[in-house]
Amino acid sequence: MSSDEKNIHNLWPLSIGDFYNYEHPLIKDELLDFFKSYENKLPEGNSQLKDEDHVGNHNLYQSNYDLHNEGNEALKKLFHFIAESVLSVSKIVNQKSIEKLSEEKKKYKVNVNESWFIKYKEGGIVYPHHHDGFSWSCVYYVQVGQGASKKNGSTYFIRPYNATSKNDFGSKYLREDTQIFTAKEGRLLVWPSFLYHGSQPYSGNKERIIISANLTIDLRD
Ligand SMILES: [Fe+2]
Repeated sequence: MSSDEKNIHNLWPLSIGDFYNYEHPLIKDELLDFFKSYENKLPEGNSQLKDEDHVGNHNLYQSNYDLHNEGNEALKKLFHFIAESVLSVSKIVNQKSIEKLSEEKKKYKVNVNESWFIKYKEGGIVYPHHHDGFSWSCVYYVQVGQGASKKNGSTYFIRPYNATSKNDFGSKYLREDTQIFTAKEGRLLVWPSFLYHGSQPYSGNKERIIISANLTIDLRD
């Protein structure tokens, strides 16, 4: 490299996808009905809720992890939207690898490996955790009350490395150690599964209900 040549290598991008599902008003009621009948059938929820040693969440109802196998039409539409959205984030961060593929190889299979819904009761909270072992994870806000804000029922992501720095301008980009996203009906957030995240305690006039999923992506052949 000559002395006047400059290369900035932005390595290991950390991308969070932020999408809105315009079909949300069309599927919301059907999803809520489905959740109601699910909870009637399985009032105790998934096994974590009965585990006295599990302290990862508080005051919520959580389904089993196979929501994507339910035959509900609204859920099918939603998982299609999720798969498309996750694939679009993955394509951006994997662009270098995609450029090396021939045109006929550029066909992808998006696998929903786990998925579940959570209904937050008054003060419901999920403490910081990650879903490592998958490729992409996501949250979709099905219902949230009007009082939702950065401090009420938001989703936060924690910077994946420690960084102590001086208070100088040069390291200003390190100043924020979390990124916070306000819950909004129809919003979908997508992030790499290793990233630590959690939800701020929620209280509101409507229950906060979300769907989450863990996904992987393969080439079709
Ligand atoms: Fe999570």
